[in-house]
Amino acid sequence: MEVAGQKGRVCVTGAGGYVASWLVKLLLSNGYKVHGTVRDLSEEKNAHLRKLEKASENLQLFKADLLDYDTLKAAFAGCEGVFHVASPVPATKVLDPELEVITPAVNGTLNVLQACSEKKIKRVIVVSSIAAVLLNSHWPHDKLQDEEYWSSEEFCRMIEVTLVIFEAFVSVPYCEMK
Ligand SMILES: NC(=O)c1ccc[n+]([C@@H]2O[C@H](COP(=O)([O-])OP(=O)(O)OC[C@H]3O[C@@H](n4cnc5c(N)ncnc54)[C@H](OP(=O)(O)O)[C@@H]3O)[C@@H](O)[C@H]2O)c1
Repeated sequence: MEVAGQKGRVCVTGAGGYVASWLVKLLLSNGYKVHGTVRDLSEEKNAHLRKLEKASENLQLFKADLLDYDTLKAAFAGCEGVFHVASPVPATKVLDPELEVITPAVNGTLNVLQACSEKKIKRVIVVSSIAAVLLNSHWPHDKLQDEEYWSSEEFCRMIEVTLVIFEAFVSVPYCEMK
């Protein structure tokens, strides 16, 4: 995503969220031009993004929902890379996990991947969760948890865990955001 010393343009989905906000800050501080998607441009909880260093020159926010394909395509236009971070992360138990968590997470990610393909995005990074590998009752405890031991859907349903997500994992340094 860097050509002859020039940083490219990348998009971060769910830019106002916890992980994504740190990623946007990191990308801006490294000279990237960033498109950030948020569901509501006027929401106070996204205001911190416009205050980040270099945001006034290099950050453009787009209103987009994971279940609205055209809004994703508009946000990805002109980008070389996409970091897909947005996902429903409920703080409390939800009434209908299938509808409120699984459908937007799965269909939203499929929409992101389809839109990236259509927009010829060179590199896509999908942020996952430790929940993708942690919840497997057959995991031998002397083995590292990797792609061989995905969380088991059956086990998750039994213990009512709704956060089973995807493959890739991006770690963002933990430090205070100013
Ligand atoms: N926090 C961690 O320590 C951690 C560690 C490992 C992995 N992760 C993973 O990283 C991802 C983000 O986690 P987080 O802690 O940063 O969560 P978060 O702060 O709740 O951020 C989630 C973001 O996703 C957006 N979003 C949810 N549903 C959406 C939809 N239908 N369309 C568009 N945007 C939508 C939210 O937008 P709104 O503000 O509009 O709701 C929010 O900006 C999750 O997949 C999580 O499992 C997190």
